[in-house]
Amino acid sequence: MSLAEVQARFRGMDLHRIDPEHEVGRLREFLSESDPRDYLIEDIDDWIQEGRLWTGVEGGSWVAFGRLHDLGRGEGWVSGLRVQNSKRGQGFGGKFLTGLLSDARSIGLTELRAVIEDENLASRRLFARLGFRPMFEMTLRCAKAGSIGAESLRPALAGEGLHGPIGWLPSRTERVDLLPGTDGGRFGRWDPHILDRWIKEGKLFLGHELAAAVQVDWLREPRTMWVNPLQGNPGSLIPAIASLAKTLGQEEWQAYLPSTEDLRRVYANLGLSPYPFWGDRIHLYERTEARPASR
Ligand SMILES: CC(C)(COP(=O)(O)OP(=O)(O)OC[C@H]1O[C@@H](n2cnc3c(N)ncnc32)[C@H](O)[C@@H]1OP(=O)(O)O)[C@@H](O)C(=O)NCCC(=O)NCCS
Repeated sequence: MSLAEVQARFRGMDLHRIDPEHEVGRLREFLSESDPRDYLIEDIDDWIQEGRLWTGVEGGSWVAFGRLHDLGRGEGWVSGLRVQNSKRGQGFGGKFLTGLLSDARSIGLTELRAVIEDENLASRRLFARLGFRPMFEMTLRCAKAGSIGAESLRPALAGEGLHGPIGWLPSRTERVDLLPGTDGGRFGRWDPHILDRWIKEGKLFLGHELAAAVQVDWLREPRTMWVNPLQGNPGSLIPAIASLAKTLGQEEWQAYLPSTEDLRRVYANLGLSPYPFWGDRIHLYERTEARPASR
């Protein structure tokens, strides 16, 4: 495509930072018009509490939406990307994501991540075109609360930390990874600040060589908690989480889990189902940029 064609394709879309206090109604309208069954519509009040929300505006209308999380230490998370239904496939997604990348750069984010379903070819192509690479495959699983005879998890105490090894992720990344959840996903070494915050908020639970961070009432019907499995053998940690969910008054729980053939067998044996609508294969994409030289 020539430069003139690219410019013509992208002409007329500006990025606008959404004011969560005053523009949530308009955002809900945008999401409903794009897809009335979009799960974000129900979650939007919680969603707007975190991250930098952007919309792409063309001729006064909102045509695109997305969220950028600053996770600290140069790491960021891109989520919720949407282009209005009638505008898809015309380059708006690319223009909009390019805008989010500029925003990320302007606040010093050099490592960005996103999760994308295997079947979402448009999104995968878009992210790949803008330099994101698939890192590993995950699955979003859900299960009923309550199991018998599981080892119990207890709330972590102030000052308690976590030490490897982490049994949950493919060793290819060679890093301790917290999978995306309420904090939008954080990678790298254990971050004591996050752990302290989770402890203060009552989200971190520990057992013997087991650890999980949870967000109760992540969904309300059925009452569902979101889990970041942090440490432990799946055969022990999963029943312990199910039992914790019951203790915390939840009906179900869900988590992103690594997806290898062996682990998928373990999940099936433990009664974990793939999350409806999401497919069983989700890719974690990552994009890194050289950090600007410090002066
Ligand atoms: C994903 C989405 C944001 C992309 O926005 P868009 O404006 O259509 O994106 P663009 O037109 O800039 O580019 C889309 C790319 O996918 C390709 N594409 C579009 N439909 C496709 C399809 N059905 N199969 C394969 N590729 C497809 C386009 O050709 C383009 O490829 P290219 O980059 O190689 O040229 C938009 O489709 C959308 O809102 N989807 C629903 C919500 C969603 O899935 N969000 C992403 C969550 S991770």
